[in-house]
Amino acid sequence: MNMYGERQTQAAVGLVDLRSDTVTHPTDAMRAAMANAEVGDDQFGEDPTVNRLEVHCAEVLGKEAGVFMPSGTMGNLSSVITHCAPGQQVILGDRCHILGSESGGISALGGVMPRAVPTNTDGTLPLDALAIATMPAGPGGAQPALIAIENTHNFCGGTVLSQEYIAQVRALADERGLPIHMDGARIFNAAAALGIPVREIAQQVDSVQFCFSKGLGAPVGSMVVGDLAFIDKVRTKRKLLGGALRQSGVIAAAAQVAMDTMIARLPEDHARARLLAETIAEYPAFSIDLDTVQTNIVIFKSQRDQTEVVAMLRERGILAVSLGAAGIRLVTHYQITDSDIDRAVVAIREIAHA
Ligand SMILES: Cc1ncc(COP(=O)(O)O)c(C=O)c1O
Repeated sequence: MNMYGERQTQAAVGLVDLRSDTVTHPTDAMRAAMANAEVGDDQFGEDPTVNRLEVHCAEVLGKEAGVFMPSGTMGNLSSVITHCAPGQQVILGDRCHILGSESGGISALGGVMPRAVPTNTDGTLPLDALAIATMPAGPGGAQPALIAIENTHNFCGGTVLSQEYIAQVRALADERGLPIHMDGARIFNAAAALGIPVREIAQQVDSVQFCFSKGLGAPVGSMVVGDLAFIDKVRTKRKLLGGALRQSGVIAAAAQVAMDTMIARLPEDHARARLLAETIAEYPAFSIDLDTVQTNIVIFKSQRDQTEVVAMLRERGILAVSLGAAGIRLVTHYQITDSDIDRAVVAIREIAHA
């Protein structure tokens, strides 16, 4: 079974794969860059391709330093266990990826206690709940040590945190003397939706994890950025977790192509997601909150059994995932074309009338 409870399947050849933006294959330019990558031993700090990528990403995000990670999960985990000592608390949302989809790593491997506050439908965490949860612990309590926010918010449907909202969380964090970690797996989608440079988002938080392997289309990899002293510690945690690599320039090369060529095209994915969402919204058989469709993710509900809808879509060549109580998710990415969207629209209309 895969993580969505589906039986393992062959790669989705000839199908319109809207399950996730993680299903993309590397572009020809990425494969060429991988084949020609200059490499060295990264644990000696000698992989020039990784070194260049880390410097480049730190610059783009406006931070002092970056460390290349094998996955977003390891990026978040290394960051959280650097910010928090065992027995301390990270304050996060009850629908966030770190809490619900990273195998409990922060507790299992870092002894960090998650304290979840409710998540609003737009991916924000209520400020009054955050204010209570971040109060210093009394005797015998677990000390809050970090606030973690997610931008864009995957299970809220790719919603973008406004800059004004993040500033309010920043003000609270400063009042409490706490750092903020942003799970920015899709932070470039957030920046594209807001029409601002990504560094303006990053400058409001202490650390950011972002993924090359989501909307940016690279096959592997994430980056954590922050200040130099923090990144040095995160690098040590990455080693602890078995994530320190050797000639990782081979994969960093594809990530560099992603940074160079895939960011500017993200608004295309957003426009295609919007089209899907507007089609879904036409039918009373489905329900969707169009306000949450801000980037490349569409989550909707159906009067019909959800797994049946996913199966009906599959019969029509469209792959979607059921997220349980959250609904059915469709995600656009660089391999989804206008004609794929046309095909998906036809399938949605058929199912609505079935
Ligand atoms: C919001 C968010 N954070 C983190 C991750 C983890 O990334 P990875 O699958 O590379 O471990 C994901 C993956 O889908 C995600 O959606």
